[in-house]
Amino acid sequence: MKIILAEKVSPATLAVFKSEPDWQVLTHDQVPDLPAALANADGLVVRSAVQVDDKLLAFAPRLRVIGRAGVGVDNIDADAATRRGIVVMNTPGANAIAVAELTLGLMIALGRQIPKANATMHAGKWEKKSLQGVELRGKTLGILGLGRIGLEVARRARSFGMEIIGHDPFVSAAIARENQIRLVSVEELFRESDYLTLHVGLTPQTAGIINEASIATMKKGIRIINCARGELIVEEALAEALKSGQVGGAALDVFHKEPLKDSAFFGLENVILTPHIAGSTAEAQEAVGIQIALQVREYLKLGVVQNA
Ligand code: MLT
Repeated sequence: MKIILAEKVSPATLAVFKSEPDWQVLTHDQVPDLPAALANADGLVVRSAVQVDDKLLAFAPRLRVIGRAGVGVDNIDADAATRRGIVVMNTPGANAIAVAELTLGLMIALGRQIPKANATMHAGKWEKKSLQGVELRGKTLGILGLGRIGLEVARRARSFGMEIIGHDPFVSAAIARENQIRLVSVEELFRESDYLTLHVGLTPQTAGIINEASIATMKKGIRIINCARGELIVEEALAEALKSGQVGGAALDVFHKEPLKDSAFFGLENVILTPHIAGSTAEAQEAVGIQIALQVREYLKLGVVQNA
């Protein structure tokens, strides 16, 4: 078997493949020319940077499996892979804690203006008077998407004394009850939330769900956090709402175009921007790497498909 690890993965991830004495494993630094390396590859592992499109797959006639170390598979043309008989797998859940923790961190940072406090201190200013914040306690947190990440966010937010409401057409009333989440319609979610956090995948139904019309139905001053996918938000509409004060603050980790080079959000004081780091913790990267390596190995050896 020949495996290409097209992006940086942890040593433990590499070790899973290396435990197969007859397998050839090439890491990203050993692959200067990815299309050429794919010519006789059986497995390919990527994170989010490598675009696996039909054009690239045309160079990989022997490829049987693509493993995405992470959740979102939007950098992989799954239809093209399927047409070519290639299985695409991901690692749902393995970075859920990392994403949930950043979400809570951003909520606190928004309410307490931590970035501004830090920036003004570094500029030699003591801005105590302008830095009064608000507490999470007693506020309503709306969670759009109650999968693994949404539920981890709910568990943590509860310990801050927040009331949790959520919308997810696929979640059962029992799961919601168990997690003390009041299930509501998407309209109610937008109308009632003081903080709104997005944890849904990007689909035709969710693309642009935060737009001028939906923002107009939200509580004035709502704070919005997005650690899911940039395309869930119509960025220009959110930027306008942040300027008018309809949205009081936003913390965004994901964007339509990444890396973000130019943006309507640049310079807005009520926006916190981070470079798609929600899943980037040592623990999560280790977990997604090992999990995808085990899945890919199992598929190539035994034909067992997991998380496809
Ligand atoms: C994911 O889809 O797993 C997260 O967005 C993190 C990443 O892109 O790796």
